Amino acid sequence: MECFKVIGGRKFDGKTRNIASKNAILPILACCLAISGEVVLRNCPRLSDIDAMLDIIRATGGRAEWDSGNIVVDCTQSEPRDIGAELTGNIRSSVFVLGPLLTRFSTASVSYPGGCDIGLRPIDLHISGLRKLGAEVIDEGRKISVDGKNMRNSAVFLDFPSVGATENLIMASLLKSGKTIIHNPAREPEIVDLADFINLAGGKVLGAGGNVIVVEGVNKLNGCEYFPMPDRIVAGTLMIASAIAEGDSVIENVDLRHLGSLTDMLSRCGVGITSYRDSVRVRAKKRPKAIGKTETQPYPGFPTDLQAQFVAFSAYCDGCSVMIENLFESRFKYVGELLRTGADITVRDRVAVVRGKKSLSGAEMEAGDLRGGAALVLAALGARGESVIKGLKHIDRGYERLENALSALGADIKRTKM
Ligand code: UD1
Repeated sequence: MECFKVIGGRKFDGKTRNIASKNAILPILACCLAISGEVVLRNCPRLSDIDAMLDIIRATGGRAEWDSGNIVVDCTQSEPRDIGAELTGNIRSSVFVLGPLLTRFSTASVSYPGGCDIGLRPIDLHISGLRKLGAEVIDEGRKISVDGKNMRNSAVFLDFPSVGATENLIMASLLKSGKTIIHNPAREPEIVDLADFINLAGGKVLGAGGNVIVVEGVNKLNGCEYFPMPDRIVAGTLMIASAIAEGDSVIENVDLRHLGSLTDMLSRCGVGITSYRDSVRVRAKKRPKAIGKTETQPYPGFPTDLQAQFVAFSAYCDGCSVMIENLFESRFKYVGELLRTGADITVRDRVAVVRGKKSLSGAEMEAGDLRGGAALVLAALGARGESVIKGLKHIDRGYERLENALSALGADIKRTKM
């Protein structure tokens, strides 16, 4: 078992490069199941969630392999085989394969998805959306079997702009005849990236990123070569780390247009953010001010995937901050670990009140989920003395060697065996 050892208090003064987006790559990989031909995804990070999706593709009979930093996938020979719990149990996004399998084979059978323990995470919107397209869905509790032979593209209204449900419905409509119109879709940049990929492969998805998405069915999707978008959550994590480490950092491969809410919040706290063509400079020369109240929201609001990291930052700010988590009901579990540093945080239901302290102490902490785990590392960067962070398997799901990126910026962090 591995852990991070972090000596806190090092001021950042360095440069690092952000990775491509896990949350864009996962649905794009699932979408390959609807494509006859070879797809090459360039510059992808080696993450356990991505490897889990490649295993699912292989289980259908498709080819999926790494070629240095690129992923090469060919699902020409794929078949709609049962995807068992041993494959779906590790990632939430395993549910994305329903849409592409249905659009190509009109049948799919997938065990219930796993993923981070941050709340109930139902998939009712995926299921009701597919039913609206004419699919016959049998939800057996642990497994979902779908008969799509009567599926026809049509209009769907999402009660909530779910990222995964929007992606699944787009993919379910790609090879069916007619138009699917998705009202109230998610507007996250990863949806736009998926649509760009599909359009490059010969599909027709219009309006991604807006309030209505239209999918026009086509007969066939072809192989293509694609560069997935930069990861806005990893970029945001590194920006917040830089703000905690009171330094001067440059992070390359960042699209700041996707990070408007974070940039605005950090600026209001007194952190200097300068945007260059595809990089960002973060300067935090003195103790930042607390921001007051923040709420997580669907894009373009403040992302739930940066909530924990921002709470860790707020623990150092001058003043009191309030964070309201609107997306997931159990997303403050990491706070119990953060308290070991001496942080002053009170959580009630979906609200955390953070009273900033000038200094926190190094501590032994254990990650229990991906972003909460990253928050523990960030807190350790600012703390006095040594911290040990266990549970790296959670952090490795979404950060490719986080220790390398942070070391390049100036952190004293090592991955060691326990
Ligand atoms: C995606 C991201 C995840 C991020 C989340 C919100 C990926 C692989 N994961 O997850 O990192 O935290 O968006 O930005 O892209 N909901 C339902 N029924 C459903 C589906 C969702 O009630 O059928 C609820 C969820 O419980 C949650 C909210 O909708 O409260 C948002 O979920 P959703 O947007 O679907 O997130 P994911 O696609 O799971």
